[in-house]
Amino acid sequence: MRRFLVAGNWKMNTTKESGAQLAQALASEVPSENPAVEVLVCPPFPYLTTIGEIVSGSGVGFGAQNCYHEAPGAFTGETSTEMLTDVGCRSVILGHSERRHVLKETDTDINLKVKKALEAGLQVVLCVGELQSERESDQTETVLNTQMTGGLSGVDASAFGQIVIAYEPVWAIGTGLTASPEQAEAAHLYLRNWLKDQYSAEIADSTRILYGGSVKPDNAKELLSQENVDGALVGGASLKAELFIPIIQAAV
Ligand code: G3H
Repeated sequence: MRRFLVAGNWKMNTTKESGAQLAQALASEVPSENPAVEVLVCPPFPYLTTIGEIVSGSGVGFGAQNCYHEAPGAFTGETSTEMLTDVGCRSVILGHSERRHVLKETDTDINLKVKKALEAGLQVVLCVGELQSERESDQTETVLNTQMTGGLSGVDASAFGQIVIAYEPVWAIGTGLTASPEQAEAAHLYLRNWLKDQYSAEIADSTRILYGGSVKPDNAKELLSQENVDGALVGGASLKAELFIPIIQAAV
């Protein structure tokens, strides 16, 4: 039985004050014992410590939106996995489409980060997903295969307790367009079968696959009720407690 994970990716949003208020609202609403759903927020780097202190002891974990693959040293502007674990981060999002398409990260870059984050003991939320043009040209599965193969190259089966996959069709991110439950389920099934073929049936059964892309309170229940959808990676709607909490509740 896979435990749901609902993760909020705050992206480059909030102020220290508004982020703190949001975290306080979530920490007070999410029960500390929540066996059905794991809840995670991923604030911007400058606010990690503040948000971590606020959610400490609550049912809300916190993670980062990126990391660098090198050990601490002369890498101006980067953030190491050692720094993330030092401030108590549980998780890190890697391979988000904004990092792939805006910041031009390649599968090779992402793979180096995945391996470094796993070594550091972080939970990795590895994002994959196709562009609209790729879906329209029937390339969705090819793209997912390339991103999974590249991102997980050299990753041992023993690491899968720390790995979560997030399927995020790029055309559904921040656009208000959501994949239909059937489209999401088909992609998730493809990813689960990929895990089975490349690793094992046990890993395929136990690895959580989240859906991301315009998840809102009014579509969360239907998406999360799909057999192979194990949670959500939420952007815009994670910035308001009154939207994020109903999404968490939809997973229960
Ligand atoms: O990481 C989250 C995704 O990019 C989804 O963002 O919910 O604003 O569409 P969104």
